[in-house]
Amino acid sequence: MKEIVILNPNRVVFGEGSMQRFVSDFIEKGFKRMFLVTIAELRSTLTPFLEELKSQGIAIVTDESIVSEPTFDDFNTILGKAIAFNADSVVGIGGGSVLDVAKLVAAQLKNSQTLDEIKGIGNLKERKTYVACIPTTSGTGSEVSPNAIFVNNQGEKVGIISPFLVPDAAYIDPVLTVSLPRNITAATGIDALTHCLEAYTNKFAHPFVDLYALEGVRIIAKYLKRACDDGTDLEARSQVALGSMYGGMCLGPVNTAAVHALSYPLGVEYHIPHGLSNALLLPSVMEYNIEANASKYERIAEVLGAEKKNSSRETALEGVKIMKQLIDDCGLPTGLGQAGVKEESIAKLAEEAIKVQRLLKNNIREIAVSDAVAIYKSAF
Ligand SMILES: [Fe+2]
Repeated sequence: MKEIVILNPNRVVFGEGSMQRFVSDFIEKGFKRMFLVTIAELRSTLTPFLEELKSQGIAIVTDESIVSEPTFDDFNTILGKAIAFNADSVVGIGGGSVLDVAKLVAAQLKNSQTLDEIKGIGNLKERKTYVACIPTTSGTGSEVSPNAIFVNNQGEKVGIISPFLVPDAAYIDPVLTVSLPRNITAATGIDALTHCLEAYTNKFAHPFVDLYALEGVRIIAKYLKRACDDGTDLEARSQVALGSMYGGMCLGPVNTAAVHALSYPLGVEYHIPHGLSNALLLPSVMEYNIEANASKYERIAEVLGAEKKNSSRETALEGVKIMKQLIDDCGLPTGLGQAGVKEESIAKLAEEAIKVQRLLKNNIREIAVSDAVAIYKSAF
């Protein structure tokens, strides 16, 4: 069996009430200057916890400026604030973008490398500052992954991937996700499911990671509609949060593939949120990939609840149907046209997607520009 390296946070706390555990752990650690990256919408939820930290003599500076996918310029502004505060620790509480910024602030606080030097895989040399991540969406899995995704000054999505970006601690409290609106619950949930699915069907898949990947697909598919229909359904929220964490654990050792590569240009060209971009493309990429390895997709179909058909291929295609239904049931648009994409931009989208070789190299089936065009067309 080929070698695999698994790097998870030193401390992963999962379950209802883990936000309170974070507060006690943080006090015990003895840090005195916390730089907190979060969003304004969480202010009232976080106030009692922050008050408790402050009562213990901890100074907190909060940044709430991230409202969409962060650019390098956004990042530099926030980093400047953390440096001016002389932070001794960084905490991210929010969605994937917030957590990505928090992780990178912690890394860059005392690092002389520039963003251009650290972009890509494995170029960041160190992180000296403690960072804890607390997700409030169930999607990116950034709280346990080595990834941080930004938009550079040319408008391209850039990944910074490094073992130093795996946080020191992750606290996943499903209670924090109950107020998440239906459309964000749906889109981020499908993103998480895609992390798991693309890890299981990956060219570099590994049995160690398959465990998380298949179970992640199963539980998210089973509970996401419930979490969308009733945001206060804590059992459904917990299961989706668990699946999302599993997805995050797949990102480091195996990572994603063509769905993510093809979804990036939709974010850049049309500002379609990351999870929704994936949802729009997932069934079409599944269909395309089945031809390369039907038995893998048959297994996916089985955990999605498909009945066995006469051949692996037929069962696998049943899985695609179930996936389309799930996306529809969660209230997401099911075609690129519905999401505002213009057909005449397909050539440009395909050209941009092909540049994402960092992920396309993981795809189980080769994708040329003409294949990308065909996938976008089938997703229309
Ligand atoms: Fe993703």
